[in-house]
Amino acid sequence: MPFKDPIVFRKGEGQYLWDNEDNRFIDLLAMNVCISVGHAHPRVVQAAMQQAQELTHCTTMFYHPTPAHLAEELAATMPPGHEWVVHFTNSGAEAIDLAMTMARTYSGNLDIIALRNGYHGPTAAAQSVTGIAGWRHPGMPGNVAFVAEPNQYRGVFGPGTDPYLDEIDRVIATSTTGSVAGIIVESVQGYGGIIEMPAGYMSGAAQRIQAAGGLYIADEVQSGFGRTGKHYWGFQADNMVPDIVVVAKGLGNGFPIGAVIAKKSIAEPMGNKFLFHTYGANPMSCAAARAVLQVIQDEQLQSNARRVGAALLKRLQGLQSSFPELGDVRGSGLMLGMEFVTDSESKTPDRKTTAAVFESCREQKLILSKSGANQSILRMVPPLCLTLDDVEEVASGLEKALQDCCGE
Ligand SMILES: Cc1ncc(COP(=O)(O)O)c(C=O)c1O
Repeated sequence: MPFKDPIVFRKGEGQYLWDNEDNRFIDLLAMNVCISVGHAHPRVVQAAMQQAQELTHCTTMFYHPTPAHLAEELAATMPPGHEWVVHFTNSGAEAIDLAMTMARTYSGNLDIIALRNGYHGPTAAAQSVTGIAGWRHPGMPGNVAFVAEPNQYRGVFGPGTDPYLDEIDRVIATSTTGSVAGIIVESVQGYGGIIEMPAGYMSGAAQRIQAAGGLYIADEVQSGFGRTGKHYWGFQADNMVPDIVVVAKGLGNGFPIGAVIAKKSIAEPMGNKFLFHTYGANPMSCAAARAVLQVIQDEQLQSNARRVGAALLKRLQGLQSSFPELGDVRGSGLMLGMEFVTDSESKTPDRKTTAAVFESCREQKLILSKSGANQSILRMVPPLCLTLDDVEEVASGLEKALQDCCGE
């Protein structure tokens, strides 16, 4: 349970939620990064409703134009110079599973490298590449080796990129057969607490993995669709081209959908066998997703994320001088995190203060998320339509919550 007392939401509009007592909250969690363009966005709702009335479902044995158009539109967002194909799934975790299977089928290798502190979903395969104990249950498949995440605030090798790239070589040499199927990387670790991959990491990791026979899988489930403000896809921060890209959540703005976008040559070897996800290319979810892509463009939500996110980051960083418990404030666009520590020297994670501030934010009518392996980071990933006026409300609410909970 996130809050001590349960909270029941009744209605959402844009970046706001209303509970059953009609209190208005700012949804800084976007209902777990699913609401990209705003709650109940009229164009998305209209597109889905119209499709539901026409044909609610069409199994993938047959063709329907809506998923086909969506696939073309998603492929068009990928780096040019490659032919991209798309397979739709019901969820992000299923897309992760498929990406892993695809990498293993294409490469003929089994071992997959994953990052500590990463989160990739609840299915057994997705859990097997998730690097946070609290999300790992018994019975996961093997053939996964973990490398230290390049956390610039508290990473085991300190700040920098090269030590973390060397770690990939070391792990390939010691913990795999020497040949790998791939590496899976969130361009910004989301649930892990907003850990951005430093410059050169994603491209360097891809080179090392490809040299060992594997593929680079970018998990853009949280960081995609312009959320970081700088780029449409998180991996573009490093000007690199992944082999496989996994998306979900914000693509549907609340309608369930996931997708694997892969270079055609990499997907092709899977053509020898059957594979389908019952609701994967559901026309209603795909109609919603087509509207989402259009709204992101028409309402210039990527540049909104950049502008509003920068203003929020500045306000939050401004709080650090008054509250030493705020060890780090970081992120890009509307993907931000505040990390709490018991003291800035030892950087000991402060789970207690994080929980107290989180609870106090409820009184300030702000919904955030406790994140990270130690639940010591408050994560902010609001709908991309957050405004500068909201920034003021968020910053003053957070300041009040910090005053209530810190400095004892
Ligand atoms: C980065 C990342 N990858 C994959 C997933 C799994 O997506 P889903 O919950 O739709 O299965 C999540 C879900 O939180 C995620 O944050």
